[in-house]
Amino acid sequence: MAHVNLDRRVKPTVIVAESPEAFSRVAADVITRQIGIRSDSVLALPTGATPLSLYAELARRCSENLVSFAELHSFNLDEYVGLDPEHHNSYHAYMMEHFFSKVDIDMSNVQIPNGMAPNREAECARYEREIGAVGGLDLAIIGLGANAHMGFNEPGTPFDSRTHVAELASETSDANSRYFAGMQQMPRHAITMGIGTILEARRILLMAMGITKAEAVRASLEGRVTPHVPASVLQTHPHLTVVLDRDAASRLTVSPR
Ligand code: GLP
Repeated sequence: MAHVNLDRRVKPTVIVAESPEAFSRVAADVITRQIGIRSDSVLALPTGATPLSLYAELARRCSENLVSFAELHSFNLDEYVGLDPEHHNSYHAYMMEHFFSKVDIDMSNVQIPNGMAPNREAECARYEREIGAVGGLDLAIIGLGANAHMGFNEPGTPFDSRTHVAELASETSDANSRYFAGMQQMPRHAITMGIGTILEARRILLMAMGITKAEAVRASLEGRVTPHVPASVLQTHPHLTVVLDRDAASRLTVSPR
């Protein structure tokens, strides 16, 4: 395990995990610590392959009574437009399968954008209001697209964006189509928290694994802060923790100490 202090204006804590077990343990520690500070913390939650081992580790800790999510408030980062919550490719279904069904969370405190909402603009506004109503995000846990997207905030998204309907970038459609029967079944739009919404979280945990993320990690942590690299804005956040595996960290120029 190596802690890297990058030479940036705001220095994130970067942890390079030496094994998959260490990756999920370190990420779960960040969340467990947050819940230890405030049991009714407000979290933003990601989907994708990256957080799977984290959710499994949190479920294990919950089953062993090491942590409770009973008072937690959660807001998922995003959801596909046009997918019913019951659809097996929806992020609702993902969250039920991998996390919510395995822990003691109160489902009335769980929020996921409604991709079936007839009035999407109203749904986006509702989502922002709900986040505000519980005092804002304490900890946003986010994954990273190969193009450095966060949630579905694709390159070019303004840094001050709020929850909105986003069009998926073609590289995102390509990457995520592996979960769908074919490109035809793949939604073209999603409702996503905006970059501004994410940035207002008091703490941010960014996770990335695999060589396909290495360039996005480098550009996000060491490159110019620009909307072309959405996650580069995280360099400006005062409380950022980054958990990487060796491959995802392999293009960072500052060597771990
Ligand atoms: C999707 C999600 C993102 C996630 C990304 C990376 O596009 N909208 O929130 O970070 O996938 O997923 P993976 O962890 O599978 O690489």
